[in-house]
Amino acid sequence: MTQPIILSVDHLQKTFKSGAQNLSVLRDVSFAVEEGSACAIVGPSGSGKTTLIALCAGLERPSGGSVFFNGVAMHSAPEEELARVRNQFVGFIFQSFHLLPSLTALENVMVPAEIRGENHARRRAMDFLAQVGLESRLHHYPVQLSGGEQQRVAIARAFINRPKILFADEPTGNLDGETGKEIVRLIFDLNATNGTTLMLVTHDRELTEQATRVIGLKGGRLVSDTQETTDVAQT
Ligand SMILES: Nc1ncnc2c1ncn2[C@@H]1O[C@H](COP(=O)(O)OP(=O)(O)O)[C@@H](O)[C@H]1O
Ligand SMILES: [Mg+2]
Repeated sequence: MTQPIILSVDHLQKTFKSGAQNLSVLRDVSFAVEEGSACAIVGPSGSGKTTLIALCAGLERPSGGSVFFNGVAMHSAPEEELARVRNQFVGFIFQSFHLLPSLTALENVMVPAEIRGENHARRRAMDFLAQVGLESRLHHYPVQLSGGEQQRVAIARAFINRPKILFADEPTGNLDGETGKEIVRLIFDLNATNGTTLMLVTHDRELTEQATRVIGLKGGRLVSDTQETTDVAQT
């Protein structure tokens, strides 16, 4: 069944200046993502995967082309608008967790909810930490947690504002096989219960096998896509 399009990328280009040279990192990438789907983005190191999700999330500006997320023109919206969209609608998970070292697990998870002005940030953070099995680690600092536990804190933080979309950049890349599987299970559980669209950069077969769609990049070009998007109606 066709779902509404939540993310639409058209003729996206990104060029970095490196000395006198221009480095073309993304070349004419186009695709559209249905709400609630789980997309894996795969490709060799340096193929542009991280750059692609940074552009989709409005963390960077494209050199050409457009990104529409949830009706917002991410390629041209003012910085404050992008910050608002990210806080309200976007969750992030990174390979290296990116927790704030001076805050406890509970405080790390509360941050996005507090920025949003949520009244029950503490209660919600405790609920989400319980959902990822960390109810007994609320007051631990990141250094006191294992890698898998830190990534579970990052997942709770990513989901606390019930984002419409989750961008994850190699979320299991720093974890052993068993812990990685547990993290994959959590991400897909939260996708199922919250209807969150997933955009997952990964080398992990567990993740690609569970994805509803796999997009392949090579040398900055989209070289494979398990779903035809050219005929999808743009709404
Ligand atoms: N800020 C930057 N300035 C210059 N080059 C960059 C920058 N960010 C990424 N690149 C280059 O863009 C290419 C793609 O990088 P990236 O998107 O991180 O690839 P991937 O995530 O697939 O490994 C690489 O060659 C990288 O060196
Ligand atoms: Mg990368």
